Amino acid sequence: MKTIIEPFKIKSVEPIRFTTKEERKKILESAGYNTFLIHADDVLIDLLTDSGTSAMSSDQWAGIMRGDESYAGAKSFYRFESAVKNITGDTFIIPTHQGRAAEKILFSIIGGPGKYFASNTFFDTTRANIEFTGAEAVDLLCAVGKRPEERAPFKGNMDVDALENLIGKVGKENIPLVMLTVTNNSGGGQPVSMQNIRDVKEVCKKFQLPLYFDACRFAENAYFIKLREKGYENKSVLEICKEMFSYADGSTMSAKKDALVNIGGWLSLNDEELAMKCRNLLIVTEGFPTYGGLAGRDLEAIAQGLEEVVDEHYLQYRIRSTEYLGEKLINAGVPIIEPPGGHAIYIDAKRFLPHVPVNEYPGQSIVCELYVEGGLRTCEIGSVMFGKYDKDGKLIPAMMELVRLAIPRRVYTQSHIDYVAEVVIEVFNRREKLKGVEIIYEAPMLRHFTAKFKPH
Ligand code: F0G
Repeated sequence: MKTIIEPFKIKSVEPIRFTTKEERKKILESAGYNTFLIHADDVLIDLLTDSGTSAMSSDQWAGIMRGDESYAGAKSFYRFESAVKNITGDTFIIPTHQGRAAEKILFSIIGGPGKYFASNTFFDTTRANIEFTGAEAVDLLCAVGKRPEERAPFKGNMDVDALENLIGKVGKENIPLVMLTVTNNSGGGQPVSMQNIRDVKEVCKKFQLPLYFDACRFAENAYFIKLREKGYENKSVLEICKEMFSYADGSTMSAKKDALVNIGGWLSLNDEELAMKCRNLLIVTEGFPTYGGLAGRDLEAIAQGLEEVVDEHYLQYRIRSTEYLGEKLINAGVPIIEPPGGHAIYIDAKRFLPHVPVNEYPGQSIVCELYVEGGLRTCEIGSVMFGKYDKDGKLIPAMMELVRLAIPRRVYTQSHIDYVAEVVIEVFNRREKLKGVEIIYEAPMLRHFTAKFKPH
């Protein structure tokens, strides 16, 4: 088979700024060893997130010019609405400025103390929006999803028995909805199978609970189904997406991922009464229901992005380029979550730095070293992000200690990725010398964004 090439030509380029190792040491120190606090201009290859970092196509840029900026009833809204309906099949499509705005609206209406929400794994903003209302967010990931070194096709699946147990324990009347995150970002960008979606739906049906998707990476999830699930190999990705969404009663979406744009999101649903409540809150917090905090041009770019993201040449290149990085690292012995996820490679920091205890944040230590070594910006997804304290102030660690190398869509070429692999392998080869870090400042919620550290 021939090399899978980038399915695009590059029309506009953005230079990147080179820095020396000495410069980067100083930059990192003044950022409190938190790569969120580094100026993007000081980063060579930015793998902090795949969110809002996509390169738009010429058709999307043309859409930006076509955008209708009417306050109410803009043409661009109707194009957006029909593109979202084409994928989700849902009746009510509510635009929001990003994913968490959709979450905030949905959970402030249906959440509250005494309520429980179940997911394969909630993303951090989703969990925060649930907990902010006083409700509880419960992760019910399947067992294999918690074993980073084990290869399985659908490690994002929900443990369906655990869902039934939860319902039995807290009562169906206290569970406003069940949510599947596709793909499972916090668990390694791993997909959820169609079979699991169906099984979860069965349980939801039995107890009359709505099933929602956190749909950020729905197209990548659908492509994995095509590649790995029997019976889907000859279906189009769009058909697979439609089947996935046919089991869901609604979705929250960050268009910054699989709609290939830099800002935007939606809340989609079929429940009319709830939709009306959400729209009313939207008017207070985001804007009129036909723009929801976005410009008409943003809605136009999302509509176009949704057509491009289900293109199978695009998805083949997308999934293969992440896997390509994963393979290079695996071949060099670097421990990562296997198999590689859709949007990112996750280094298993516990196995990478077995000599650094969890309360010295091995993931953060690797993040810092990758920046100094090669100007890579990556993100800890471990106890810095999800750690909590018990009543004696002792760290309750996260389930896994990971470092995420998220790949922006259509932004970097194969030589950029080769360079990334070289830097990671270089750091891995001198891993014994790496030391842990200590937190010297932290905010009460979502602390990873602003925390400051001190190296040991
Ligand atoms: N759900 C998932 C699964 C996500 O990955 C994100 C964002 C959100 C919801 C929230 O969307 O950022 O538009 O408000 N993930 C980004 C990331 C930030 O880097 O993984 P948002």
